[in-house]
Amino acid sequence: MRWLDKVVAEALPLVPKPVVRRVSARYIAGERLDDAIRVVRDLNRQGMSATLDVLGEFVTTPAEAARAAESYQVALEAIHREGLNSNVSLKLTQMGLKVDLELCFQLTAKIVETARGHGNFVRVDMEDSTCTTDTLAIYRRLLERYPGSVGCVIQAYLKRSAADVRELVAMGARVRLCKGIYVESPEIAWRDPLEINRSYVRLLTDLLEHRIHTAIATHDDRLVTAAFDLIRRLGLGPDAYEFQMLLGVRESLRTMIRDAGHPLRVYVPFGSHWYAYSLRRLKENPQIAGHVLRGFLNGRS
Ligand code: FDA
Repeated sequence: MRWLDKVVAEALPLVPKPVVRRVSARYIAGERLDDAIRVVRDLNRQGMSATLDVLGEFVTTPAEAARAAESYQVALEAIHREGLNSNVSLKLTQMGLKVDLELCFQLTAKIVETARGHGNFVRVDMEDSTCTTDTLAIYRRLLERYPGSVGCVIQAYLKRSAADVRELVAMGARVRLCKGIYVESPEIAWRDPLEINRSYVRLLTDLLEHRIHTAIATHDDRLVTAAFDLIRRLGLGPDAYEFQMLLGVRESLRTMIRDAGHPLRVYVPFGSHWYAYSLRRLKENPQIAGHVLRGFLNGRS
């Protein structure tokens, strides 16, 4: 990232919300479920599957958690009714992880049960490191109850991830592997991009060699190439893995992966709680300074 982009990324919390909304529009399907359904239908037509994310995180009351859980029930029913090729991804802090662990488990279990009833699948996203241990503990309980219907996420930047992967392999989990997006301390996480990539390849090798179904979630050319090589070397078929990318990011890479014959799923966020997600995406955009400037200018015209 150029220095100016870095400065703008740091200053993002000072940018007015309407500008953030305009600039981050490409990353979000819209505010309503209908918007998301339209986007998923279009992706399906292009030969890609989707995972729906109802935006929201870190709720502070049981009532908010229950409302978020209900919105996932509605989304799963819509996916089923519309015959879409899409599962769902959710965050446990949205289901009350920081309010009441047992409530969080019960609400999430009900969602997985609905998904399972429709032959569908729930991915539990991974949040910042204050959530990792509790998230994996709840995931373990969900997997015992609903094997095959629920997956988790491992972040390559966390130093603990090699040990977590060993446990997940033993449990027969389904794992999405990503670099990790939260700001973590150097005691627990690698910061150097090369070190993170080395960790990613080590973990991916471990998962695929153990025939763990792995969602290879990245937009990094070097990691995609490394994954192609591994898949070829291990002779894996399309049932053993999938690539995953975020809505609005590197669509040309997305098309290249699909055209090479690999399964590809797009993460489709929607809903009214778009702000925190938008900031995370914008901070990763290597051309953020130009986008934010245009966002200000477009607002004036
Ligand atoms: P990297 O950040 O190096 O990006 C590679 C290239 O992609 C960049 O050089 C740039 O060209 C392009 N790019 C990346 N992000 C962009 C953006 N926002 N706008 C424009 N261009 C961009 N994290 C987490 O902590 N918990 C989770 O549960 C998930 N879940 C998840 C699901 C899916 C499907 C994906 C793809 C990613 C996640 N992540 C995540 C996010 C992940 O940890 C990571 O932050 C981003 O994917 C960016 O890392 P890359 O591997 O793409 O590499």
